[in-house]
Amino acid sequence: MRLLFMGDVVGRSGRDALVAELPSLRRELALDFVVVNGENAAGGFGITAQICNDILDAGADIITLGNHSWDQREALVHIERETRLIRPANYPAGTPGRGAAFVEAQSGARVLVVNVLGRVFMEALGCPFEAVERELVACPLGEAADAIIIDMHAEATSEKMAMGHFCDGRASLVVGTHSHIPTADAQVLPGGTAYQTDAGMCGDYNSVIGMDKDEPLNRFTTRIPSGRFQPALGPATLCGVFVETEASGLAKRVEPVRIGGRLKQVLPEL
Ligand code: FE2
Repeated sequence: MRLLFMGDVVGRSGRDALVAELPSLRRELALDFVVVNGENAAGGFGITAQICNDILDAGADIITLGNHSWDQREALVHIERETRLIRPANYPAGTPGRGAAFVEAQSGARVLVVNVLGRVFMEALGCPFEAVERELVACPLGEAADAIIIDMHAEATSEKMAMGHFCDGRASLVVGTHSHIPTADAQVLPGGTAYQTDAGMCGDYNSVIGMDKDEPLNRFTTRIPSGRFQPALGPATLCGVFVETEASGLAKRVEPVRIGGRLKQVLPEL
């Protein structure tokens, strides 16, 4: 199978570029399954029902979230209706929505997507490793699932890398999100799981992690907030990770993807 994971969509710039490019990307890369992290899609903070629909209509199969899941209150209701939108699995019991989705791709392949939040330099939540373990045991790769994608939404590179090794041999792809900067460590781990510490964002890189530079610079230099964070509105670079799996569901190839905007362009060759 050919899988594509696109990193955190930040504001209008990221959304517009993703919605414009995803249909052709799906065709050109002959993608079987696409996951998009949408937790910063609405003005940098959360996701709305409309934006969720726009990203799904453009060709995403599943949308994942993160620490900004509920910044737009309507997501609490929408996630109960829309099974293709998932939130971190290690939120408290009783949280609306689901932390994993088990769906059929257009090809008929069964795909499990799991979203978890890291705990290092982040909110105190349930253990992400326990949450992932539960999902992997319930739906083993090569038996119940033809592909498994884990979105580890976390601050610390160490915690994300640990999750990669924790899942090695049991997932098709473990990819980090949240830091909005693509890391240069795409690799197939020894057990066959594709891994990249952070996918990067779909947003304007003439910014501070997707936000207009002025307010972050002001806060770093003066420590006095003087306004709201606003997404930067220049042309977005779409950042993601492309994975090709073999029949076992393990990865034979992983490549970074970077399209448009300011970063060096990278597209996998088929
Ligand atoms: Fe985040």
